[in-house]
Amino acid sequence: MKIIIINGPNLNLLGKREPDIYGKVTFESYFKMLQEKFPEIKLEYFQSNIEGEIIDKLHDVSIDYDGIILNAAAYTHTSIGIGDAIKAIQAPVIEVHISNVYSREKFRHQSYIAPNASGIIAGFGLQSYELALLSIIK
Ligand code: DQA
Repeated sequence: MKIIIINGPNLNLLGKREPDIYGKVTFESYFKMLQEKFPEIKLEYFQSNIEGEIIDKLHDVSIDYDGIILNAAAYTHTSIGIGDAIKAIQAPVIEVHISNVYSREKFRHQSYIAPNASGIIAGFGLQSYELALLSIIK
């Protein structure tokens, strides 16, 4: 089984960025832990701060993957392009957020990902990614 995690803008700064909201762990170390915990899954990770690169990645992995775990970060709330890309591809997409976006500012309540996602997981810290992974495996 092949699953990819795609992270959007500023998530390369996890561990340093607003640690009270996003925690003190880097995504690289969390990802390593996930790989060790699920050795039977071919798990990949891609991060970009650039909207078009995220869209290109979604196109690239479209057919080949059993699931895409997408934290589009701020682009969740703004990107019609990423929303359209999800509509255009075959692999199921799980929308993930580290924080509970619905308990935060109103602009974070809007998602261009959600209408075409298979499901949404938000608010469980980095564990949101593992919950998304389990939802694909099961
Ligand atoms: C986020 C929530 C977004 O609103 C924010 O722009 C992010 C991270 C999260 O994982 O909680 O960058 O997607």
